[in-house]
Amino acid sequence: MKAKGPFVVAIDQGTTSSRAMIFDAQGGVVSSAQREFEQIFPRSGWVEHRPRDILTSVQVTLTEAMHKAGIEASAVAGIGITNQRETTVVWDRASGEPVYNALVWQSRHSAELCEAMRSEAVDALVRERTGLLLDAYFSATKLKWLFEHVEGVRERAQRGELLFGTIDSWLVWNLTGGRTHVTDVTNASRTLLYDIHRQGWDEDLLALFGVPASMLPQVRGCSEIYGRIEPKYFFGRDVPICGIAGDQQAALFGQACFEPGMAKNTYGTGCFMLMNTGAKAVPSRHGLLTTLAWKLGDEVEYALEGSIFVAGSVVQWLRDGLRLLDRAEQSQASAESVDSTEDVYLVPAFAGLGAPYWRSDVRGAIFGLSRGTSREHLVRAALESMAYQTRDVLAAMEADADIALKELRADGGAIGNDFLAQFQSDMLGVPLLRPRITETTALGAAYLAGLAVGVWDSREQIARLWQQDRRFDPAMEASRRERLYRGWQAAVQATMGFPA
Ligand code: G3P
Repeated sequence: MKAKGPFVVAIDQGTTSSRAMIFDAQGGVVSSAQREFEQIFPRSGWVEHRPRDILTSVQVTLTEAMHKAGIEASAVAGIGITNQRETTVVWDRASGEPVYNALVWQSRHSAELCEAMRSEAVDALVRERTGLLLDAYFSATKLKWLFEHVEGVRERAQRGELLFGTIDSWLVWNLTGGRTHVTDVTNASRTLLYDIHRQGWDEDLLALFGVPASMLPQVRGCSEIYGRIEPKYFFGRDVPICGIAGDQQAALFGQACFEPGMAKNTYGTGCFMLMNTGAKAVPSRHGLLTTLAWKLGDEVEYALEGSIFVAGSVVQWLRDGLRLLDRAEQSQASAESVDSTEDVYLVPAFAGLGAPYWRSDVRGAIFGLSRGTSREHLVRAALESMAYQTRDVLAAMEADADIALKELRADGGAIGNDFLAQFQSDMLGVPLLRPRITETTALGAAYLAGLAVGVWDSREQIARLWQQDRRFDPAMEASRRERLYRGWQAAVQATMGFPA
């Protein structure tokens, strides 16, 4: 007999792959399916995706996860969506045809345009209203690039023929058969067009980037029914789509970081540390972002975020670019086979540096090579770079929030690597907690969806479901830790001094 449920489906649409996961009411994983899709690199620092590839990968994984689970569609109470944030899609509201590839969050298409727009007044406006800064990372700069570089897009947008969306909007619009054009507050808060204090699209910012209001999605909370999936995409059932959050906010939720001061770090393509700051939007003076954590009912909560552009993808680069590894999983044994990097540092600024430096113009570098440098030293230096970047961000976060972090909850693919987890804890000098389910992003989306339809009834109940897999306590001598970190800081400074 088939299991009765209720079950919740999470769609986790990430930068390099889409994943569908099915969870039971205890927050346990019933099944999972994943598919990578093509990354398009038209030139150095640019990254694009085909919006249709993304949609297909979602539809295929959804079907596959359901087949693997062997459950009836009628046992699924709701679908939650979480997504790579900031990535920008514009499509025709009548035909559904995208006007161009999706411009991916990491991409530097709009770096020059940002420089041209920069002034004290613009920087202040952007920071005050959005909690972000003027950088090619954010959607409005990508939209402006599309207006300026793709023929006819500005005019068609002005005539009201086009729709804009981050990936959540693109997916919901398509999965509901073109009926629902929405986003949630977390994704809206990454566009550079949304006032995070007043909660609404901001007219001054729309004017600044030349964006017609008619192309914007309606902004909703993170846990409510937005629409129903077209039965043809879900075994004949019109299950509600009832949770949306950007992937980093979903991970914060999935890690049950519900109290101010609690923080998580997700090691995906990039690495994103978010600290819950409760009902207070804490402005950053140290290169972090102030962003929305979620909106549940009418309650809004905020987070401080340190965004690191390259983390897990550095291991992909070792595998596919340098061919130093056959499989990413080999990186742990390789790093552990040497005692140190022998002072080799790898600064993976492949797409510039994000928090807390914000330098679009720099590119990656390796320092300290000697005749004795081996593959193992480079692999170890790559893994260590994730931990050093995280320390840079944590220092900024503690200074901004004026609190010392007690522990860090970590998740995402790369943190299954025990070497990285231990080195991270050593470098931060605080315990690192790894949960049983490291696919916390998907879990968070499932929780948000399940809360909307009564699978779970409170955050307290969800917090009780959080389970630890392993705790890593700092074990490195302070003098060694500080010496290593000073080397990293010197490497970053030298990278920033090198003209790209
Ligand atoms: O802001 C970009 C972020 O949402 C991407 O996350 O997990 O695809 O690296 P990820």
